[in-house]
Amino acid sequence: MRPLLLLTFFAITCTAQYGQSLDDLPKIVDNSTAGSSTEKYVLPPLPYEYEALEPHISAQIMKLHHQAHHQAYVDNLNKALAELKEIQGKEEMTVKDRIEALEETIHFNRGGHINHSLFWKGLAPGGSSETGLQGDLEKAIVAKWGTADELSTALFRTILGRVRGSGWGWIVCNVDTQELSFATTRDQDPISLPQLVILGIDMWEHAYYLQYYNNKQSYLKAIWAVLNWKEANERYASCLKHTSTSS
Ligand SMILES: [Fe+2]
Repeated sequence: MRPLLLLTFFAITCTAQYGQSLDDLPKIVDNSTAGSSTEKYVLPPLPYEYEALEPHISAQIMKLHHQAHHQAYVDNLNKALAELKEIQGKEEMTVKDRIEALEETIHFNRGGHINHSLFWKGLAPGGSSETGLQGDLEKAIVAKWGTADELSTALFRTILGRVRGSGWGWIVCNVDTQELSFATTRDQDPISLPQLVILGIDMWEHAYYLQYYNNKQSYLKAIWAVLNWKEANERYASCLKHTSTSS
């Protein structure tokens, strides 16, 4: 295997971090091809019903987002990984361009799968006990930003200012410093160590357009009501316990 590919696979398979790695996501063994079996990633189920986040996020958006968009990232990732496995080891120059294209495809769909898997778990029905700031995370947020309203104002300003096209807005924690901050990524680029995802907000149009059209501010206010701060607090606890060199 060429060094570039070796590094790629090391990055994919050896950085299991709290849902930020493919290693943390479910797979099945596919025996549908005679004489061979391969492992494939599968779409993780939502931890709630499609209509559970209404009226903030419509069931129509949730169903399309999960069943069509997230499923496509999983399918395209599986397809690209299978093709890469088939041609890896071949040294002919004719496959070099194809390998580079596959690596880009894998990077994009791997990010899409990871980001959405984190996103679904970071949401909860509005008004449920999960949707209020809690625990050590609440204390850290109060110490840094003051109130939940001040946090949301600063977060929305950052996201709306930095995400120009398709991308993601994040609250992250640095595992070395335990510092909370905001981050944005383009397309389906994921968050990587030393940053650990506390919560992510999908800013692709497919996440909001059917309900909020081009009003990103209204979408952000709606998604704020269904953020799962219980899950976020558990992720923050992981951040407080780990460093980038200890895992
Ligand atoms: Fe999405």
